Parts: sequence; C-alpha cells; structure tokens
Amino acid sequence: MRNPCLVGTKVYLRPLEEADAAECHVWLNDPDVRRTLAVRGVPHTEASSRAWLRALDPRRDQVFAIVTNEGGLYVGNCGLHDIDPVDRHATLGIVIGRKDRWGQGFGTETVRLLCRHAFDDLNLHKVCLSCYATNERGLRLYARAGFTVEGRRREQVFIDGRWVDEILLGLVRGEAPVG
Ligand SMILES: CC(C)(COP(=O)(O)OP(=O)(O)OC[C@H]1O[C@@H](n2cnc3c(N)ncnc32)[C@H](O)[C@@H]1OP(=O)(O)O)[C@@H](O)C(=O)NCCC(=O)NCCS
Repeated sequence: MRNPCLVGTKVYLRPLEEADAAECHVWLNDPDVRRTLAVRGVPHTEASSRAWLRALDPRRDQVFAIVTNEGGLYVGNCGLHDIDPVDRHATLGIVIGRKDRWGQGFGTETVRLLCRHAFDDLNLHKVCLSCYATNERGLRLYARAGFTVEGRRREQVFIDGRWVDEILLGLVRGEAPVG
C-alpha cells in the first residue's frame, strides 16, 4: 500500500495527486463512465484534471484515489466536497473509472469508508449527495449504505437527449449501516 489514508478489506483510499491526472482524465471521457457524472458535458485533458486538483482547498474538498488492496490497481476517485464547518455537512462524490471493475463491491466499500471518515474523523453531522434517476446502480449502492431519498429535482439534467430527474440523498450521523 502506498500512502493509505482509509483502509477497507477490498480497497484503500490515498490522497489524489496531480500525477493521477494522467490516468483519471481518460475515464472521465468514457461515455459509460461520464454519463452519470456532473462533469459529463465537457472534454477532459490531463492538464484540465491537473488544474482542477491544484485548485482544490483541502479544508473544503478532500479527494482520494481508490486503489485495490489486491494488486494495487488505481480504479477510481472519490471525495468529500463542500465541507461545511458550521453546519457540518459535506457532499460525497465517487467514480469507479475502470468500468471493467464495476460490480466487485469497490463502490460500496468506498462509500462506507468515506462516510465513516466524515463522521468519525471529521466530526461531520451529515453526508449528502445527488444521483441521477437513470443511475440505478448508484441508487442501489446508496440505499445499501443507508442513505435516505430527501428530494427529487424534476428534469434537472439532460442526458443522452432526454431530461432526467436528479435525486437528492442524505445520511445523518448515527442512522447508517456504515459498517
Ligand atoms: C455507481 C458506481 C460508483 C458503483 O460502483 P461499483 O463498484 O460498481 O459498485 P458495487 O460493486 O459496490 O455495487 C454494484 C453491484 O455489485 C454487487 N457487488 C457487491 N460486492 C460484490 C462482489 N464482491 N462481487 C460481485 N458483485 C458485488 C453489489 O451487490 C451491486 O449489485 P446491485 O447494483 O445489483 O445491487 C460505479 O458504477 C461508477 O463509478 N459509475 C460511474 C460514475 C457514477 O455514476 N458515480 C456516482 C454518481 S452519483
């Protein structure tokens, strides 16, 4: 393991580095991966990914690389964004960019690791996120992790030529099967 911050049984999370931009910008251009992401509308280059990473303030955005324990494969990015020190909430983001690695439990474990970090290390009260209604895999994952649907923004995003609802979800400290 290199530079592990949060360690699970299948994956560990290490700080995302500028050097990771060389690999992860490619995932963000993959139509299957980007379809359910807010960044889907623009092309990504190594330079734009580096610039995004450089601009982050770690007090506000904590971003991690997701790496498999077995084989040390860098499979995705995740993070807690817009960390609010007054209201003590943050917005969770995740992408398993290597789509050949979907369905192996990496996403589920990553969400659990991030929520545990939010509650037990950062002393946050709530983790929020939004997920598009067409993202069934994501919605099942968040339900498994204990998130509650709190709202629905109708026809909020335009994906593959049609309007799609955005589902708002939240997990309040203590109500989770964070595991
Ligand atoms: C959504 C996303 C994060 C899910 O990641 P993932 O690693 O595929 O998720 P998991 O493997 O934990 O769960 C997916 C399925 O695999 C199953 N699974 C869990 N552990 C498993 C294992 N050890 N072996 C096989 N399957 C497993 C889960 O039960 C789940 O099945 P279900 O969807 O039928 O309920 C990933 O598909 C992704 O990055 N998509 C593109 C970006 C995106 O949508 N991000 C989220 C925006 S809100």
